[in-house]
Amino acid sequence: MKLTLLLFPCIASLASAYWLPETLKSCSFKTCVVPKNQTQQLKDRLQRQYHVYLWTPISFSGLTNVEFLLQGNLTLPANVSQVEGIVGNSKLYPGHWVTVSNSQGVTFTGTEDNDGGWWLGHGNLWWSDPNTSSNNQRPHFFSFKVTSLRLRRMKILKPVAWCFSISGTDVYMTDTILDARSDNGFPFNTDGIDMSASNAVVDGWTSWNGDDIINVAPPAMNVTMRNIIAYGTHGVSVSCSGGTGGNYLFENALIYDSLIGARFKGVLGTTCNVLNVTWRNFAVFNTSYPIHFIENYVDQETGPPKNANLSLAAFATNFVWDNIVATTAEVLADGSCISDPCWSFTPGESPEKGLYLLCKDQEHCKDFHLSHITLLGADGGPGQMDCTGLEGVTGMGYACTNTTLQEA
Ligand SMILES: *[C@@H]1O[C@H](CO)[C@@H](O)[C@H](O)[C@H]1NC(C)=O
Ligand SMILES: *[C@@H]1O[C@H](CO)[C@@H](O)[C@H](O)[C@H]1NC(C)=O
Ligand SMILES: *[C@@H]1O[C@H](CO)[C@@H](O)[C@H](O)[C@H]1NC(C)=O
Ligand SMILES: *[C@@H]1O[C@H](CO)[C@@H](O)[C@H](O)[C@H]1NC(C)=O
Ligand SMILES: *[C@@H]1O[C@H](CO)[C@@H](O)[C@H](O)[C@H]1NC(C)=O
Ligand SMILES: *[C@@H]1O[C@H](CO)[C@@H](O)[C@H](O)[C@H]1NC(C)=O
Ligand SMILES: *[C@@H]1O[C@H](CO)[C@@H](O)[C@H](O)[C@H]1NC(C)=O
Ligand SMILES: *[C@@H]1O[C@H](CO)[C@@H](O)[C@H](O)[C@H]1NC(C)=O
Ligand SMILES: *[C@@H]1O[C@H](CO)[C@@H](O)[C@H](O)[C@H]1NC(C)=O
Repeated sequence: MKLTLLLFPCIASLASAYWLPETLKSCSFKTCVVPKNQTQQLKDRLQRQYHVYLWTPISFSGLTNVEFLLQGNLTLPANVSQVEGIVGNSKLYPGHWVTVSNSQGVTFTGTEDNDGGWWLGHGNLWWSDPNTSSNNQRPHFFSFKVTSLRLRRMKILKPVAWCFSISGTDVYMTDTILDARSDNGFPFNTDGIDMSASNAVVDGWTSWNGDDIINVAPPAMNVTMRNIIAYGTHGVSVSCSGGTGGNYLFENALIYDSLIGARFKGVLGTTCNVLNVTWRNFAVFNTSYPIHFIENYVDQETGPPKNANLSLAAFATNFVWDNIVATTAEVLADGSCISDPCWSFTPGESPEKGLYLLCKDQEHCKDFHLSHITLLGADGGPGQMDCTGLEGVTGMGYACTNTTLQEA
C-alpha cells in the first residue's frame, strides 16, 4: 500500500507530456494511483468515492513538466502514534510529508467541487492533546523547491501543523483553502505558507488557522500575496533573522477574529535587511494587534537565541502601510497563549491600540510611510498607536505617538 511506488507509472506517462495549459484529464491520483486491487479500483472509479492514504511520506525529485490532478482526497493516517513514529524516523521522514525538490515545471491542480481534491491531515486528533504545541513529532505537510511551480486549488483540511514550505522561483499559487478550524483544542502552528521563494504570486486565499497565513523571509525577493480572507490568524507576515530580501506586496485582505493582521517580526538578537514591503487595502476586524511591527521577536517554541547580541536588530527600509481600516479586539490573546505573559505580549499594549511600531531606533527603520489608516479601539472610540524608536521622525504620514493618530 505504498503510494510512492504506485505513483511512478503515472508520473512516467506524464513526464514528457504536458506542461500548461492545465487541461490534462487522463491521469490523476484518483484514476491512476489506486493502491487497491483492480476490482476495487473499478468500483471506486464508478462510484467516485475514494480516499488515497498517504501512509508514508512521498518525495519527488528531478521532475520536469509534470501535472498532478487531485480528484479524490489524499489523507494522512488517522493514527497519531503511527505518524509520530514515522516523523521520528529520519530514514522514513525527510522533513515533510510531501516533498517535491530539484524539479522544474510542476503543477498540482485540485478540483473545483468540494467533494474531492482535499488533503486531509486529521489534525483534530492532535489538537485535543494539551501538549500538542511541544510535540516535535508533528509532521510538516508540503515542501516545494521547484522552478516554475503552480499550485491550483490546493485544499487542506485539518493539517496537523505547518502546511506549505516553498522555495525556488516562479511560483503561482491560486485559490487555496486552509481549514484548520478546531472544536477541541487550539490548532497550534497551523501556518499557511513559509515562503522563501522568489518571483512568487499567491492569489486567492481563504483560511481558518492558528498561526501565520504567510511568513515571507529573506532571501525571498519579489513576492506578492493578494485577495485574502482569513480568520484566527497570526498575520500576513514578514520576518527576518538574517540575509537580505525584499519587494514584498500584500494587498486586498479581509481579516477577522484574529491575533495579528499586517505583521513584521525581526528576530531578537539578529540582524538582516528587508526592503520595500507594502501592506495595502486591508480591513482587519476584531483583531488583537491589527498592525504589528516589532524587532525583538522570540519564538515561543524555541525561546530566545542563545547568546543573543541585543545590540543587533533588523534593518527595515521603505515599508508602506496604506488604506487599512482596523478594529481592535477586546482581548489581547488567543488560544496560543500558554505562558504568562503571553508570547505575543507587547509593551504598551491596549485594546484601544491598533498600530504598533516598535523600532530599535531610526537607523533600523528608514523610509516608513503610513497613509489612509483608520483605527477603532475595542471601546468603539478612535484607535491609538504604540510607537517607540521613531519619536520626532517626520514624513511618515503620521507622527510616532502613543495616542490617537496624528497626521504629520
Ligand atoms: C479486491 O476488491 C474486492 C472488491 O472490493 C474485495 O472483495 C477483495 O477482498 C479485494 N481483494 C484484495 C486482495 O484486497
Ligand atoms: C496506530 O499506530 C500504532 C503504531 O503504529 C499501532 O500500534 C496501532 O495499532 C495503531 N492503531 C490503530 C487503531 O490502528
Ligand atoms: C473528501 O473530503 C471532503 C472534506 O472532508 C469531504 O467533504 C468529501 O466528501 C470527501 N470526498 C470523498 C470522495 O470522500
Ligand atoms: C504535558 O507535558 C508535561 C510536561 O512535559 C507533562 O507533565 C504532562 O503529563 C503532559 N500532559 C499530557 C496530557 O500529556
Ligand atoms: C516578480 O514575480 C512575478 C511572478 O513570477 C513576475 O511575473 C515578475 O516579472 C517579477 N518581477 C520582477 C521585477 O522580477
Ligand atoms: C527597493 O526599491 C528601490 C526603489 O524602488 C530599488 O532601488 C531597490 O532595488 C529595491 N530593493 C530591492 C531589494 O529590490
Ligand atoms: C472576536 O474574535 C474572537 C476570536 O478571536 C471571538 O471569540 C469573538 O466572538 C469575536 N468577537 C466578536 C464581537 O465577533
Ligand atoms: C554585537 O553586535 C554589535 C553590532 O554589530 C557588535 O559591534 C558587537 O561586537 C557584537 N557583540 C558581540 C559580543 O558579538
Ligand atoms: C511610548 O511609550 C514607550 C514606553 O511604553 C516609550 O518608550 C516611547 O518613547 C513612547 N513613545 C512616544 C512617542 O512618546
